[in-house]
Amino acid sequence: MHLLGIKTDLIEPGDDLADRLEKAMAGLGMALQDGDILVISESTLATSEGRLVALHDVVPGPLALAMADRYCKDAREMELILKESDRIMGGIPGVVLTLRDGFLYPNAGIDNSNAPPGSVVLFPADARESALKIRERMSRGRRIAVIIGDSRTHPLRLGCVGVALACAGLDPVEDARGQKDLFGRELKITRKAVADNLVSAAQIIMGEGDEGIPAVIIRGAPVTMSESTDPIPSIPLDECMYIGALCSGPRPYVGGYDQLIEQAKEAMNEAYAPYSGFKVGAALLCSSGRTYSAGNIENAASGAGICAERAAIAKAVSSGDRVFKAVAIVGSSDEIVSPCGICRQNLMEFGEDIVVIMANACGEALTSTVGDLLPRAFTGRCMK
Ligand code: THU
Repeated sequence: MHLLGIKTDLIEPGDDLADRLEKAMAGLGMALQDGDILVISESTLATSEGRLVALHDVVPGPLALAMADRYCKDAREMELILKESDRIMGGIPGVVLTLRDGFLYPNAGIDNSNAPPGSVVLFPADARESALKIRERMSRGRRIAVIIGDSRTHPLRLGCVGVALACAGLDPVEDARGQKDLFGRELKITRKAVADNLVSAAQIIMGEGDEGIPAVIIRGAPVTMSESTDPIPSIPLDECMYIGALCSGPRPYVGGYDQLIEQAKEAMNEAYAPYSGFKVGAALLCSSGRTYSAGNIENAASGAGICAERAAIAKAVSSGDRVFKAVAIVGSSDEIVSPCGICRQNLMEFGEDIVVIMANACGEALTSTVGDLLPRAFTGRCMK
């Protein structure tokens, strides 16, 4: 297997990438051959597609401001991350882990490196579509494959390896199940991430910085070329060991409980909060289909007050409902309201899987579950 780097001058927005690569290859005395795999860096593709955004053009909304504060990020970048991702899984200072089209990426793939100052590069709009098009343009009767490559980290490992965002012309994952190991035992779960491995190989000469090698030809790789246009396969969240083990915490609300949020808002208007002035409304959806809503009820003796969630729980339980599916909570401020510890404990009494939708007065919301909001809770189980 041989790797040949294609060095080019700076690729700019609006450039025809296939044309630029072909010209660069010609200048280097190279040409694609039958069976070649062309690995192209995603940021170069995205740049050529004009996926650059000047941060001063971005106006962050209240959700982005709150999340930027929480994860120590530029609020404008956070706004782009929210737009570019399907879900925020959580984060650490400086990086949020996002889900986009079934895969995990740091910061929704938004990159500061290799972008002009004050700008960021978004992921290509549709990497698979671009891979198919580039393959069609560059094959010229030869059987070639194109992979759009990115770099990724692996949990607890220092350093980046390669990952294929999309590919065209080869099977990205090879199924090794059924093959025998050294001792004749059948392999039960092993699949080879062929496309990812090829990107890793390419990255050894592609580099991450100013090398100016945005694409690499891999020649003689022992892989199966194919005409399949399937996307790179993913596994469901609940079958992923990392997510299964670690997933917790609030994520942006993507719909499904809009009516419940409305009911919580109505209940908020009836809240009795003369002391704090902070009105909260909660609406509890039961498996019976009934909903119970309430506002917070304050008291001159502050400890005697009751939160909206607990007032709603009291209504439900005293009406005979014990199985809750979801609770929507709305507060009368720009901040997204989060149930207090006592309310979390009260909700936990009725199940860790209850969905919690936490909203603000402008209708923005985060969603979580009681179990995620109160990990390792004290429950009746602890007393057995
Ligand atoms: N409050 C709620 O109703 N629910 C919560 O989860 C947080 C706090 C109310 C209690 C009090 O009336 C006011 O907000 C300020 O603490």
